[in-house]
Amino acid sequence: PDAEITLTVNGTSHRLAVPATAPLLTVLRNDLELNGPKFGCGLGQCGACTVLIDDMAARACTIPVGSLAGRSIVTLEGLAKDGRLDPVQEAFVTEQAAQCGYCLNGMIMALKALTLRETAPDERQIREALRYNLCRCGTHLEILAAARRACG
Ligand code: FES
Repeated sequence: PDAEITLTVNGTSHRLAVPATAPLLTVLRNDLELNGPKFGCGLGQCGACTVLIDDMAARACTIPVGSLAGRSIVTLEGLAKDGRLDPVQEAFVTEQAAQCGYCLNGMIMALKALTLRETAPDERQIREALRYNLCRCGTHLEILAAARRACG
């Protein structure tokens, strides 16, 4: 049997019997039913699976859960507080930045990480933060508008 792993997600501690080598993304989606993070490439290349680990954007598809003891993980589900969306989420709603929406988890989490480390990110910092998050619909102009709103 798998050894138990303790994982802190969205402020709650979970004891899970999962393989230490299981990707964090698989455990979040299959064991904790947190489906905000998406499976895109599974190779760390698209950004759809982005979560925060200790307030830094990280690709959950490439990180084994066994390496995360004592770390604080936040998923898209953890951003809204007291029934209110996070300002980054609000900005995406206001700008209607989704087309299919599959990439938005990653866009929002990458921007959330940016706003946590920079008080007023400029255009260059915004583009740098989103540089490795892929959107196949080509909704980049709306996403950038939402990003500027979130960071403004
Ligand atoms: Fe993790 Fe693409 S699914 S980076």
